[in-house]
Amino acid sequence: MLTSVLLLLLLAISSSHAAFYGVLRTYSSKDLQGGGYPTVVRHIYTFTTCEEVDQLTCGSNCSDPGIIYNKIEEISGEWCQKERILIWVNQAYQRSQSRSLAGNWTYNLNGIVASLITTQDEERVRSDTNKPNTSPQTTIISVVRVPSNCPRNISLLAFDPDGDEVRCRFAENTLSECTDCTQPPVLSLSSSCTLSFNSTNSNSEGPYAVQLIMEDLAEQTISVTQPDGGQAVISAGAIISKIPVQFVFRVDPAAPSCTEGLYLPRFLPPTPENRAHISATINQTLEISIRAEATQSVITNLVFSGPYTVIRSTSGSGNFTLRWKPTDFEGGLSHPICFVVQANFSSSVYNSDLRCIVVTVSNYSVPAESTAIVITTPTPIQTPATHSPATAIMAPTTAVTQPPTSSAATTTIALTDSTPDPRPHYVIALDAMISTTLTLEDNKDTIMQLLKEKLIQHGLTSTISLRLLSSSLMAAITTAAP
Ligand SMILES: *[C@@H]1O[C@H](CO)[C@@H](O)[C@H](O)[C@H]1NC(C)=O
Ligand SMILES: *[C@@H]1O[C@H](CO)[C@@H](O)[C@H](O)[C@H]1NC(C)=O
Ligand SMILES: *[C@@H]1O[C@H](CO)[C@@H](O)[C@H](O)[C@H]1NC(C)=O
Ligand SMILES: *[C@@H]1O[C@H](CO)[C@@H](O)[C@H](O)[C@H]1NC(C)=O
Ligand SMILES: *[C@@H]1O[C@H](CO)[C@@H](O)[C@H](O)[C@H]1NC(C)=O
Ligand SMILES: *[C@@H]1O[C@H](CO)[C@@H](O)[C@H](O)[C@H]1NC(C)=O
Ligand SMILES: *[C@@H]1O[C@H](CO)[C@@H](O)[C@H](O)[C@H]1NC(C)=O
Ligand SMILES: *[C@@H]1O[C@H](CO)[C@@H](O)[C@H](O)[C@H]1NC(C)=O
Repeated sequence: MLTSVLLLLLLAISSSHAAFYGVLRTYSSKDLQGGGYPTVVRHIYTFTTCEEVDQLTCGSNCSDPGIIYNKIEEISGEWCQKERILIWVNQAYQRSQSRSLAGNWTYNLNGIVASLITTQDEERVRSDTNKPNTSPQTTIISVVRVPSNCPRNISLLAFDPDGDEVRCRFAENTLSECTDCTQPPVLSLSSSCTLSFNSTNSNSEGPYAVQLIMEDLAEQTISVTQPDGGQAVISAGAIISKIPVQFVFRVDPAAPSCTEGLYLPRFLPPTPENRAHISATINQTLEISIRAEATQSVITNLVFSGPYTVIRSTSGSGNFTLRWKPTDFEGGLSHPICFVVQANFSSSVYNSDLRCIVVTVSNYSVPAESTAIVITTPTPIQTPATHSPATAIMAPTTAVTQPPTSSAATTTIALTDSTPDPRPHYVIALDAMISTTLTLEDNKDTIMQLLKEKLIQHGLTSTISLRLLSSSLMAAITTAAP
């Protein structure tokens, strides 16, 4: 039996000047807890101003704490992206679809006026993961800009924590996924979510409304179960859920050169690679360093989209840091972050390529007395990274027994990533337990050496070096060239 719910929501906008710049909506399911499956739904809206987002969402009463939208990013006078996180416990598992309107699009050359936001959620419990589906995870900055003379491939983030295949396509009229479905004529899209822009002439300069649908497809046949025991089969290759990915693509006046590093900023190490996977731990601050250069223009800004609690800072032109301390409810989930670096020359604005990463927050936090190890190896990451985080987090539970042991102190070792490496890297998590009477303070070198040997036995390169970050934090860093 298939329960289908179709909601048509009409969100009122009080200001007639409001202009819509797109939407993203994803959902993530956690393991069974207290009779249900906690589900985290992220709604991300962009309008001309932050106030418009509030007007759209809370109508006349913006003091209701239940509907707070938090600011992710704002380009003053252009657009504001905000998100609302809804956490609920899924107990009536079903398949649901929804459609909603969010007012009129900002002026665009493909002539889209009315917005339409369609979703399809699969909330029944999957036979392969023993929990409800998680939609593809993605985000994007609200306005993607490219000079008209510069061809570019934009590889959108398309990651599925369940390990499903992710596909992209333009929203379709025949599926009632848009009110007006005219595609931007300057863009083509591959099913693997790469948008291609071929250079055009100046007649095509201006903004376009991009309305995409991202879908996850079952890799193999699975069944899904409702609380009453009702079951359905999802065949291999069938669509499980659909999310809307909408934004503005702006073709800017031609740049004097399309070579990255001149007018268009070029990323430098240690900026993470596009689609890199980084792991983080609840209550521990993750730092992502981003560096870019442009010799003929002035780097002015890092524009990003990601959890609203990410904090951006700048240390000198072209050097940026994103810091994020995940909280409890973000544990066990994957969080996308995308960014571009922006530069000015005369009155023109030039954006770098779009880079996106996935931050997976482990479900447990390292107890205060334990030891965290950071490992970065030069093993190339498996790209395109559409695999489940399980491929990035291998957790052999290993007993590391030390010679003079009498099982007094117990130390849990968790390996997480926190130092982005310039090279492609592969993050490994290892759960291990040491029983020893040695204290880390007095026998640091002995313990480090034993740990190192153990890690090498587990297949890490022999050039790995371990470093003590604090009495409870240890780093393991490989220095070998790939
Ligand atoms: C949206 O555009 C339509 C057609 O131009 C117009 O009639 C309508 O009033 C607009 N709605 C809003 C909320 O601005
Ligand atoms: C607005 O929301 C607040 C908080 O939920 C509530 O106390 C108040 O009564 C609401 N006001 C109106 C006019 O609905
Ligand atoms: C975009 O990708 C296509 C197909 O892989 C390739 O032929 C083309 O050169 C790429 N364009 C740019 C600007 O990288
Ligand atoms: C891009 O534009 C060039 C020049 O107009 C053309 O030769 C080429 O076929 C176009 N490529 C694609 C993928 O449309
Ligand atoms: C940016 O950081 C790099 C590496 O830390 C440093 O060499 C460079 O001088 C910094 N640039 C600026 C403008 O601060
Ligand atoms: C960059 O250009 C924008 C738009 O022309 C302008 O508003 C801004 O002040 C410029 N910033 C700098 C640092 O020159
Ligand atoms: C994840 O964390 C929650 C809350 O701390 C806990 O109840 C749950 O059992 C954990 N799940 C797993 C798979 O560890
Ligand atoms: C994270 O910190 C908060 C606030 O200090 C605390 O309540 C929570 O238990 C911590 N979570 C974990 C998993 O350590």
